[in-house]
Amino acid sequence: MKGLVLAGGYGTRLRPLTHTGPKQLIPIANKPNIQYCIEDLRDAGITDIGIVLGNVMPEKVQEFLGDGSKFGVRFTYIVQGEPKGIAHAINCAKEFMGNEEFVVYLGDNLLKNGIKAIPKKMKEEKADCVISLMPVKEPQRYGIAELSPDGTKVLRTVEKPKEPKSNLAVIGVYAFNSSFFKVYPKLRPSWRNEMEITDAISLLIESGHKVVPHHVEGWWKDTGKPEDILEANHLILDGIAEENEGRVEDGASVVGRVKIGKGTVIYGRSVVRGPAIVGENCKIGPGAYIGPYTAIGDGCQVSKAEIDDSIVMEDSTVDVERKLVRSMIGKSSKILSANGLIPKGERLVVGENTSVYL
Ligand code: DAU
Repeated sequence: MKGLVLAGGYGTRLRPLTHTGPKQLIPIANKPNIQYCIEDLRDAGITDIGIVLGNVMPEKVQEFLGDGSKFGVRFTYIVQGEPKGIAHAINCAKEFMGNEEFVVYLGDNLLKNGIKAIPKKMKEEKADCVISLMPVKEPQRYGIAELSPDGTKVLRTVEKPKEPKSNLAVIGVYAFNSSFFKVYPKLRPSWRNEMEITDAISLLIESGHKVVPHHVEGWWKDTGKPEDILEANHLILDGIAEENEGRVEDGASVVGRVKIGKGTVIYGRSVVRGPAIVGENCKIGPGAYIGPYTAIGDGCQVSKAEIDDSIVMEDSTVDVERKLVRSMIGKSSKILSANGLIPKGERLVVGENTSVYL
């Protein structure tokens, strides 16, 4: 069985973070979303993986993933370019898949319990397709599955219906065989001009193929919006194990489950309260507070500040006597003190599509 990870799309809801790279590379507990997908595929025994590249700096995905050897897998890069829909992205991998069965993983989806059950179900049920389902509060935001009254059969799947007939979201991990490529030519663009995966699944059903539902256990997150990323950060940090490869100076305290990377120093009078992660080669303090559900990327410097429930990405500096909450700070950013400025005031150098709450 092969794997396919989708790393295309525009990521408009995550600007400005997606002005400088694709959304699948945004770190969640210091690891890009796409890495969790790859590790899940690998843990399910799938090591021959296609990566579909979009047109938001695809070279950054290649630079991060390489040939796959550092993750114990092998990558084949497939260029989709403009995002013409998930089904279109999968069809770009037709040649790579040949006649094999495959698992598709959307690079902005995150699952607590991995995906092992999905290829297993595909084999056991001799299915043509397995879709993963989970009840959601806002079914209008997702692809939705309508099941038979006994819940064993998928009747159809509909993309973001205005009046959903069920609350079961089709989440971003699917298994297919080559029948996907046979029905694809019959697919037509949707109202939003995309080749929808839900329409492709409905076509498989209409043409008599066996589409099996799989009910996912544990949490699942689609990290399409900043709130979702912070929530995913929460969920991952909830399961983090305590580990300290850095140095905690006298007078500093590290409380609860905190992971501290190599070369990091927590200076005196600082408090780090878990669950939290501080990457490698960071300088925290003196006198800093890193609160629960915070992820500090590699090479960051946090002096004096208090940070709670936030993501601070690589090589950033936070040096201000303020408390930051539920914040996402992009790579190599600086949050500094305005003390001493004449005239007095907040000084902002803010890029396009940024949100600032003062
Ligand atoms: O997260 C689950 C939902 O994902 C499903 O319930 C929906 O049925 C499915 O359409 C999808 O909805 P989204 O609106 O969230 O899709 P999004 O445009 O965010 O794309 C999902 C992933 O696929 C994302 O990692 C980008 C990638 N992608 C997307 C498109 C449209 C591509 O690689 N190429 C594309 O053309």
